Amino acid sequence: MTETLAFTQEPHASPVAVADRQAQLANPGFGRVFTDHMALVHYSEAEGWHDAKITPRVEFRVDPACAVLHYAQEIFEGLKAYRTPDGGAQLFRADANARRFRQSARRLAMAELPEGIFLDSIRQLVRTDRDWIPDSPDGALYLRPFMIASETFLGVKPSSEYLYIVIASSVGAYFKGGAPAVTLWVSENYTRAAPGGTGDAKCGGNYAASLAAQSEAIKQGCDQVVFLDAVERKWIEELGGMNIFFVFDDGTLQTPPLTGTILPGVTRDSILTLGRAQGLTVREELYSFDQWKADAASGRLVESFACGTAAVITPIGTVKHSGGEFTIGSGGPGQLTGALRKTLVDIQRGVTPDPHGWTEKLF
Ligand code: COI
Repeated sequence: MTETLAFTQEPHASPVAVADRQAQLANPGFGRVFTDHMALVHYSEAEGWHDAKITPRVEFRVDPACAVLHYAQEIFEGLKAYRTPDGGAQLFRADANARRFRQSARRLAMAELPEGIFLDSIRQLVRTDRDWIPDSPDGALYLRPFMIASETFLGVKPSSEYLYIVIASSVGAYFKGGAPAVTLWVSENYTRAAPGGTGDAKCGGNYAASLAAQSEAIKQGCDQVVFLDAVERKWIEELGGMNIFFVFDDGTLQTPPLTGTILPGVTRDSILTLGRAQGLTVREELYSFDQWKADAASGRLVESFACGTAAVITPIGTVKHSGGEFTIGSGGPGQLTGALRKTLVDIQRGVTPDPHGWTEKLF
């Protein structure tokens, strides 16, 4: 699907002043600084995809009976535009996000956005708001495409109308202070996704369902929750909003397989490819919480890390659970984790050549 639409440009009449923007870019944190514009496309059963525009980022009105407010028919994506050393900017694997957005739409019974429209909306928004791309080492323009069911109707059925929107946020590191290693809380009371459910779709509902467990993690002094599978409550699945990897003392890299309950992360997939390209043994295999604990104690497991577009690659130092806690390796950033992170980030930022054809230079 490569169908596309012409985007009308509606420039902001009073964009954020240069000095104010620079002040916001100095320390953006994550998800609080927004650019001047957004992309917007409408869908209706009668007209299909139509009325595509880049327009000022403003509040918008929805009817209180708008379907998404009641039945959560909503999906989203996360990808970044990176500042390149020559002062330009590039995208990383935006085509993979476009593809996953369609897969998520299918699972949530929503209209599938043609990949060409998704990609053009991203390209045009980044070009329009190019001055908002930070040039700090951890900084990027985080793009958040999302789609909501916009029909005004309380019947439980797929909406006949949708709004597709892309907003952009200037960001730094996801974890406060660019945490050298994060602490996880193993959720025993809650699960994230069941077989046949929406675990492999990127829908807001999955994240809503993770929040009680994430709150528990915060109460326990941890940064993130890690979920076990819903059937046996045994196998490690993923974090609240990131995939997970394990590194063993023989250099093997392992991550849980995509069984339908795990989000198929673009960063996860990129790490698997980078690992294989470096000649590492790479496994997509189930790994139990008990084994994780035992391997951390015996020293067979030397590193673990979380990965995602927002988190990039973040080392996991300590794991807490109802029965105690254990430390992974030295409790700080591991060697292979650091090397993989550098390889990935250098490609994303155009510091080294991209042998996999993952990047698209925008200007
Ligand atoms: C991302 O990594 O882009 C996500 O969507 C996850 C969220 C924790 C921000």
